[in-house]
Amino acid sequence: MSRIVYVLNGPNLNLLGKRQPAIYGYETLADVEADCRRVAQELNLEIAFHQSNAEYQIIDWIHEARERAAGIVINPAAFTHTSVAILDALNTCEFPIIEVHISNVHRREAFRHHSYVSTVASGVIAGFGTQGYPLALQRLARLIDQSQN
Ligand code: DQA
Repeated sequence: MSRIVYVLNGPNLNLLGKRQPAIYGYETLADVEADCRRVAQELNLEIAFHQSNAEYQIIDWIHEARERAAGIVINPAAFTHTSVAILDALNTCEFPIIEVHISNVHRREAFRHHSYVSTVASGVIAGFGTQGYPLALQRLARLIDQSQN
């Protein structure tokens, strides 16, 4: 059975650490990836970690994941609030999906309060900073264990 988890990151997250640090902090996406790989090892998960500024690329990774993965952790960034196409792609997956936001989107502008992705997510983590990623992996590992036992 697959223990592969895709960790997908949307637009502008390549600038993590430099971009609005008062909101997103100083950790880079490379730091987040290292953290995810360390936690994944403890959880016996294999990680495919990606970031893109292009909607189609994220959709293509979701299509890849649906063939070979056991779950997805996704921070769709601004596409969270706009993308029916990413929602449709996620709806083709039969495994658990966890949505992550570094910032507490509910404390921010009203347009960030709605998420298309939340309608397909098993759970949502927001406002835990970059720590949200390892927490999402822990939850996903539990859900995968439950579904494979
Ligand atoms: C974000 C929140 C989104 O509203 C925003 O567009 C992002 C990052 C977060 O991680 O807090 O780019 O997803």
